[in-house]
Amino acid sequence: MAVTVVDHPLVQHKLSILRERTTTVREFRALCAEISMLMAYDAMRSLPLEDAVVETPVASAQVRRLAGKKLALVAILRAGLVMADGILALVPGARVGHVGLYRDEATLQPVRYFVKLPSDVHEREVFVLDPMLATGGSAVAALDLLRERGVQAARLLCILGAPEGVERVAAAHPEVEIILAGLDERLDERGFIVPGLGDAGDRLYGTR
Ligand code: PRP
Repeated sequence: MAVTVVDHPLVQHKLSILRERTTTVREFRALCAEISMLMAYDAMRSLPLEDAVVETPVASAQVRRLAGKKLALVAILRAGLVMADGILALVPGARVGHVGLYRDEATLQPVRYFVKLPSDVHEREVFVLDPMLATGGSAVAALDLLRERGVQAARLLCILGAPEGVERVAAAHPEVEIILAGLDERLDERGFIVPGLGDAGDRLYGTR
């Protein structure tokens, strides 16, 4: 099972503030974006480079540039939007897809209400973004959709995950690398990650 927990001190420190009950909407939004940017920075360490030559004002310089596929960020609405904003600070040219899913509070099943993806998403390096990987239903639904659109392998960036969600994604999409800032203990009877941080969408947008 390919799971990476980003243990960078800045990520862990920011996550500790994100979890606190007293963190305000404004702080929560900023922290989500910052953590996402740092997680993506870490995850993009493996992007391939190619050699090139540029002319500096002084001489020719051997340089290395990104090679390979262009990027696509796929934000699972609503909460993935702020993650995309954070990562776009690093890779402003990335294309952004949106998959609208909400989790039915009674059944915990994901309900799809919107899809808009770059037409060439199957030719891109795809990062799927959702702060919470709880039962894994939403992530699997988004990854299923991407597979239907020809995406061979995506990476899933979530701020917090539960073991149940990790296992569900790994079973349905073993090719997907899961990148987390924290892997928590379990889900409660309402499908909330424990200890978690509450409902990310509500805390981001001040709803409920
Ligand atoms: C939350 C969260 C994930 C999903 C995780 O979204 O942001 O998308 O639930 O749960 P799962 O792994 O069990 O599917 P929610 O349904 O609250 O929608 P929102 O982002 O619009 O608030």
